[in-house]
Amino acid sequence: MTQRFVLAIDQGTTSTRCILFDQRARLVGVAQREHKQYYPRPGWIEQDAMEIWRNVDRIVPQALRDSGVTAEQVAALGIANQRETTVVWDRRTGAPIRRAIVWQDVRTEDLVREYAERPGAHLIRELCGLPLATYFAAPRLRWLLDSTPGLRERAERGEVLFGTMETWLIWNLTGGVDGGLHLTDVTNASRTLLMNLSTLSWDAELLSFFGIPAAMLPRIQPSTASYGATRRVVPGIPIAAALGDQHAALFGQTCFARGETKCTYGTGGFLMMNTGRELVQSSHGLLTTIGYQIGDEKPVYALEGPIAVTGSLVQWVRDNIGLVASAPEIETLARTVQDNGGCYIVPAFSGLYAPHWRSDARGLIVGLTSYITKGHLARAVLEATAWQTREVVDAMNADSGLQARALRVDGGMTSDNLLMQIVADVLDVPVMRPFNAETVSLGAAYAAGLAVGYWPDLEGLRNNWRLAAQWRPQMDQDHRADEYENWQRAVQLTFGWQR
Ligand code: G3P
Repeated sequence: MTQRFVLAIDQGTTSTRCILFDQRARLVGVAQREHKQYYPRPGWIEQDAMEIWRNVDRIVPQALRDSGVTAEQVAALGIANQRETTVVWDRRTGAPIRRAIVWQDVRTEDLVREYAERPGAHLIRELCGLPLATYFAAPRLRWLLDSTPGLRERAERGEVLFGTMETWLIWNLTGGVDGGLHLTDVTNASRTLLMNLSTLSWDAELLSFFGIPAAMLPRIQPSTASYGATRRVVPGIPIAAALGDQHAALFGQTCFARGETKCTYGTGGFLMMNTGRELVQSSHGLLTTIGYQIGDEKPVYALEGPIAVTGSLVQWVRDNIGLVASAPEIETLARTVQDNGGCYIVPAFSGLYAPHWRSDARGLIVGLTSYITKGHLARAVLEATAWQTREVVDAMNADSGLQARALRVDGGMTSDNLLMQIVADVLDVPVMRPFNAETVSLGAAYAAGLAVGYWPDLEGLRNNWRLAAQWRPQMDQDHRADEYENWQRAVQLTFGWQR
């Protein structure tokens, strides 16, 4: 019998990857293309959705060709994507009405401030699990409707469509102007501020609060479901799953049990804890979200704590300050000292995300004395990531009543062994990295493979998870407590800096 595979598309913030996996979750083929970021004004970040689609059009055939696999050998395709990035396009021409507005874009700051004062604003979190913030899609969509003449009327007539990246890609893959399917999944929809977390459908109250016409919204489906079959690029492949990338990472890390927690360390850090079938509202500054939903089963909920700046602090000290010449050097430099020498860096470059949600915070370095060397600064850079992780894990434990007993990690920064040791030290739990570091793609592939019976069940997927490296806590308890207190004092000092 010919061997079969599962294909994943990971449509990320800076690039799109296509990865082919075999039954043992081994990576068989990969193709990747970056796309351009546009910064038309301070705080504005845009991407060309057409460029992203063209990249998919190239990398899917390339990944298959390079690995000598035919379309018939692909059992299913799963899509994972950067979340919250908002695109609106013309149903008839297939052309985006303007460039996609990226999740980091803060052009809606004033709009969000104004909406926070409106009657009904206090109900938002209860309905959709999210605080009202520029991070999510609804304010962007509202901004587009307000600032593009005639768009609202066209949206009401169903002539233009809204989507995040999975919706855009699925519509294009399944035919585009020629009958493309307009679909999203619960995890992506849970990041719009428009989906009711209990009913898993667009919430009439939220739609009316933000003034969003229902006719432009995609249909919400479970994460594993039929999303049609590809009719373009490589025709005939069933699209069987879609998930936001962080949710896909949770799935790829096989965090299927309550309390299991993962962190993906990239430019920012994204922590997610599985809280099971119960919806846990956060009172400690976290987001309540859908972890995943398998077919018609009840969804699995999660608590999420996004951290805006982790790896990008290393980039900043490399590119703007010249502390190191390359990112890996930060570890070497930090190893030249035993501790931070009393110095703390809080990288609140554009405010702080979870658990503080302070857009008025700005970054700082405190504790400077003439004793401080480059090594101490490097150490403080790494510790900033670790302490931010600790703040989110504490909030998760408090909100859920569960205890994260270990942290499963993935992403670029996990190659920094000293950082991973510090994370274990400050959390006081083991930090574990699996062999397969492509957890986002793997999660999308797992979900799709599960949907079509390529993998039988979650237990089978769990067995594929192999420990590559583990860091155990070594820090003395009193020292940990003192350091945490210092960190928290430093964080307080960042508040209110931006007036
Ligand atoms: O919420 C934003 C997140 O989904 C982006 O992830 O890895 O594409 O930067 P990434």
